[in-house]
Amino acid sequence: MIIEPRMRGFICLTAHPEGCRQNVKNQIAYIQSKGTIQGAKKVLVIGASTGFGLASRITSAFGSGAATIGVFFEKEPSAGKTATPGWYNSAAFEEEAQKAGLYAKSINGDAFSNEVKHEVVDMIRADLGQVDLVIYSLASPVRKDPNSGELFRSVLKPIGSTFTNKTVDFHTGKVSEISIEPCSGDDIENTIKVMGGEDWAMWMDALKEAGVLAPNALTVAYSYIGPELTEAVYRKGTIGRAKDHLEATAFEITESLKDLGGKAYVSVNKALVTQASSAIPVIPLYISLLYKTMKEKGIHEGCIEQIQRLFSERLYTEGLVATDEKGRIRIDDLEMREDVQAKVTELWKDATTETLAALGDLEGYRTDFYQLFGFDVADVNYDADTEEVVKINSIG
Ligand code: NAI
Ligand code: NA
Repeated sequence: MIIEPRMRGFICLTAHPEGCRQNVKNQIAYIQSKGTIQGAKKVLVIGASTGFGLASRITSAFGSGAATIGVFFEKEPSAGKTATPGWYNSAAFEEEAQKAGLYAKSINGDAFSNEVKHEVVDMIRADLGQVDLVIYSLASPVRKDPNSGELFRSVLKPIGSTFTNKTVDFHTGKVSEISIEPCSGDDIENTIKVMGGEDWAMWMDALKEAGVLAPNALTVAYSYIGPELTEAVYRKGTIGRAKDHLEATAFEITESLKDLGGKAYVSVNKALVTQASSAIPVIPLYISLLYKTMKEKGIHEGCIEQIQRLFSERLYTEGLVATDEKGRIRIDDLEMREDVQAKVTELWKDATTETLAALGDLEGYRTDFYQLFGFDVADVNYDADTEEVVKINSIG
């Protein structure tokens, strides 16, 4: 079968197995090129199939020789339909891990459910005994409360007043003004319910109660802050409230892990092209200007570079884990550098449909977007018939 990208709005309906495999291989090669990290040896990654979670799994396995269990929610291939990229990524990851003699198993299911938590606990018990690192990297628009069965939806809206600013359609390059109405009703509570820290705490409680957390175990969840430009729709909007909640939950988890000597951290990461961030208005324009600026300064990073730095320069160093005044790990330090932000703000003022191609890195944005789905990846022969992808070993 020859697979081509099929776009609908801001999403791509197809994914390319060989391109996804090459993406995973490239990330593995990057980690191997950076040398060993004295990190955790048994790692659970929740949200392990794409983005920062996949990078965390790759860094653990190929940077520290860790056994990994990955949890994600992806569609496997079916008649006439490709799988979702995260499914192909995970199949490729498992294959590469096995070749390297590393334990790797995956659970494809709803991480918010009690069932998946039980499955993971059983798998750790049976295969690993305990884990010493838990990465929490879910991004989801919905969450079903596992106890009440109620479905909650998150929204990406400003709070209090309408927000008007520029945005770009990265497919056409058209810059236009957009107004986003403020949230209403239960939007804030619902967004906190989905993207806040409740489920993270439930995971850590379940793991601790089952006795599958090793002494001094660490857990890390990912957050974002970003600049003033995007504040109204991100950090001071509904999603920002959820991130506030996630960050506060880290302290509660640390408290509950005290007797084990365990600790919970939130790491604030850089803005990157993912399926989730492409759907937020204003953010793609910001990212295209940010990419241009950071590439020019030679400090651009993708997910794998970010997580490699998180593990080697923050989490697993000789000294204490460096944090900001709110206890957060910052690997968004380069994005937030004064000279970077000053430049982006200046470019922002001048960005129009006519100027953006020169001012911003629209091309880089598009390439990253296509690569999320395994397209536009160097060294992949897209004219060749794709072979059947092996089943992920632990999935029925
Ligand atoms: P992503 O969309 O690439 O990854 C999300 C992961 O969650 C995937 O593995 C997916 O399968 C899994 N998932 C979603 N719903 C699930 C469910 N119900 N059960 C099991 N697995 C489920 O997202 P990305 O961008 O890597 O985001 C991860 C975290 O990093 C999020 O908390 C996000 O806010 C944060 N972050 C993202 C930034 C960005 O610019 N993309 C910047 C800073 C932080
Ligand atoms: Na992720």
